[in-house]
Amino acid sequence: MTLELEHIHPQYRQFALLPDEARIRWVRSDRYLGYARAERVLERLEILIDYPTRDRMPCLLLFGAPGMGKTKILSKLLRDHPPIAKATGGTAVPVVCVQMPPEPDERSFYQELLRVMNGAFVASAPIPSMRQVARRLLRDLGTKLLVVDEVQSMLSGSSRQQRIFFNTLRFLTNDLRLPIVCAGTDAARVALMTDPQLADRFEAAELVGWTDDAEFHQLLRGISLILPLRKPSQLLDPAARQQILALTDGNTGRLFRLIETVAVEAISSGRECLDEGSFRQKGLVMPLLSMLDRSRRALAG
Ligand SMILES: Nc1ncnc2c1ncn2[C@@H]1O[C@H](COP(=O)(O)OP(=O)(O)OP(=O)(O)O)[C@@H](O)[C@H]1O
Ligand SMILES: [Mg+2]
Repeated sequence: MTLELEHIHPQYRQFALLPDEARIRWVRSDRYLGYARAERVLERLEILIDYPTRDRMPCLLLFGAPGMGKTKILSKLLRDHPPIAKATGGTAVPVVCVQMPPEPDERSFYQELLRVMNGAFVASAPIPSMRQVARRLLRDLGTKLLVVDEVQSMLSGSSRQQRIFFNTLRFLTNDLRLPIVCAGTDAARVALMTDPQLADRFEAAELVGWTDDAEFHQLLRGISLILPLRKPSQLLDPAARQQILALTDGNTGRLFRLIETVAVEAISSGRECLDEGSFRQKGLVMPLLSMLDRSRRALAG
């Protein structure tokens, strides 16, 4: 029997031909799926990478609720700009991405920064010398963009530590003429706004929750086009869209986990497609704790 796989993007049809177990593994594996909002953020990040050096470099804060896809976008940016061997020897690292350490003091921040740049450092070294090493490394590596993820972690520090962190950001962007991207929750935005200089320098890009609009439809279409299911899905059906939004509250991470769960079920059960019924099945195990109550309400409704 030949399979009609017209509903899948030509590049992805091969995966629908794999045995069930391999298809399930494929559905569960980590991948970046482009959608309009994420692509717009990536375009802005590309502009920052190519920004001509000037006294005051623009910076960007990417903010949104947990799970909205901030880190996923940053990982895609890092993959698009990997370290490259320089003709003159050594390596160029165009994008350096550091996670705000859970102990948000200056020493931990520089230690983390030096660690991701493979810089040698002595943990007990005085902070000014760590700062100098970090500065020299960022210059030597030809870094064009510094990314700090999970910036809301700074809120667990004292207000003095927060001020010091803001000074550190200011120092790095002023001294190295380096654009900085911070990513975090809305709390990070509020904190950043308390520093007038930084508030004036950072543009903001927000990842807002999904609503039933054209971009959401485009996302569902994109998902349907890559899933290795052998029959066409009906995710764009109004009832299916409503179920997805009700179960996930428009959160990107929950949405991808939900689709993963129902797609695995569609493969195991032999249904081979997703539709409104996929989200209403008895015994469907919600993939995340945060979705349990929503699932009860949606099923009751
Ligand atoms: N573009 C995407 N393509 C595929 N999956 C995605 C995408 N964006 C988000 N996801 C899914 O959502 C999950 C959460 O995304 P991510 O970790 O980027 O969120 P976050 O905004 O960084 O959250 P937090 O504030 O908790 O760090 C990912 O693990 C992934 O499963
Ligand atoms: Mg994250």
